[in-house]
This record gives sequence, structure tokens and C-alpha cells, in this order.
Amino acid sequence: MRLADARKDQYRRLAKDQGYRARSAYKLLQLNNSYHIIKKGSKVVDLGCAPGGWLQVVTKEVGQAGKVVGIDLKPVESVAGATVLKGSIEDVDMFEKIVGILGSKADVILSDLAPNVSGLWDIDHARQISLSATALGFARQVLRVGGSAVFKVFEGDLLNEFRADLKTSFGRVLLNKPSASRQESSELYIVCLDFKQ
Ligand SMILES: C[S@@+](CC[C@H](N)C(=O)[O-])C[C@H]1O[C@@H](n2cnc3c(N)ncnc32)[C@H](O)[C@@H]1O
Repeated sequence: MRLADARKDQYRRLAKDQGYRARSAYKLLQLNNSYHIIKKGSKVVDLGCAPGGWLQVVTKEVGQAGKVVGIDLKPVESVAGATVLKGSIEDVDMFEKIVGILGSKADVILSDLAPNVSGLWDIDHARQISLSATALGFARQVLRVGGSAVFKVFEGDLLNEFRADLKTSFGRVLLNKPSASRQESSELYIVCLDFKQ
């Protein structure tokens, strides 16, 4: 078995043993161990939350005092402590709905958004960056000053422009590849700290 397959298998097994719905939970756990983005009592929005692996991590981290809202096009089986909205982040009334549920702006915006992949690298990259740009627009409306965000991105030509855009809104913009993310996949995570507006 190739090392990459063995690692994928390892996280799949761990997720099953530890009751996470998706291997992706470990990517967020690793990012949060490094950057301590999600704290007890945080208000967190999870964009592209199905099947709910990140929601499981976040609800545990924020505890009873926190608030968690997830959005996805797909239905999501309920996660205790989270409110899930079915819809698109492109819906114009979505940010007002979310701020209404949170009762104020969010401390953290998470985006693990991914389009349906076609297998054509250029097209998938462009679609994913376009979704991430929408997520950034969303963060600009919903995040409180000083808040943090995480954006999943697919590597490619448009990435630098997106990073430059992030730098106009955040004090620190850090590229990360958690070890739970398959080495051969083109996904990266951008951790953004100190939202300026
Ligand atoms: C990689 S999955 C997220 C996995 C999730 N973080 C977890 O741990 O369970 C990406 C999700 O983005 C969602 N998505 C794609 N475009 C969207 C859009 N415009 N609005 C909301 N969700 C979207 C997809 O439906 C998919 O469920």
C-alpha cells in the first residue's frame, strides 16, 4: 500500500473509531491545535458543512456557551449544539439569517467549500476559488473585527490573487497543509487571523 493510501486509511479508521462522520474532522482538529482559532464560547459559522464532521469538532470545542451555524446545499443529519441551514452561501439573505441566529457577528468563519469536481483541474480550481471568494465576501459581512477564518482552497493560478485579497482584510494570512489532508490532493487551508474589515 502506498504511504498516501495508508494515511487516508488511518484517518478513515480513526474517524470510525472516534465517531466522526468524515475524515475531514482531523484536518480541522490539526488546524485548531496549531492556531487555537475556536475557543470555548466562540460563535462559529461553517460554510459547506455536510456531512457534519467539522460541526462535530466545533460544537465540542465551543461547548455550551458557544453558538454554531452550518450551511450546505445538501441535507445534514442534525448535530447536537449546531443549527444547520440548507441552502447556498450565494443566497443573498443568508448572512442576515445567520447573524439573526448568532445574535451578533461571528468570531470564526470556516469554509471547507468544494464544488462537484469534474476531474478537469483548471475548471475545478476556478470553481473552487470562486466559491472561496464568495465565502470571503460572506466573512466580510458576518465576521466581527479581530475574528478568524479558515478557507479551503485548491492550488492553482488563481490562488495568489485570492491570497492578496485575503491580505486586504486580515492581519495574518497563513498557508497550511494539515497532515490529515492527502498529500496528492491539491487542497490547502488558509488560516486568517485578525479580521480588519
Ligand atoms: C468537503 S465538503 C465539506 C465537509 C465538511 N467540512 C465535513 O467535515 O463534514 C464540501 C461541501 O461544500 C458544499 N457546497 C458546495 N457549494 C456550496 C454552496 N454554494 N453553498 C453551500 N454549500 C456548498 C458541498 O455540498 C459539500 O458538502
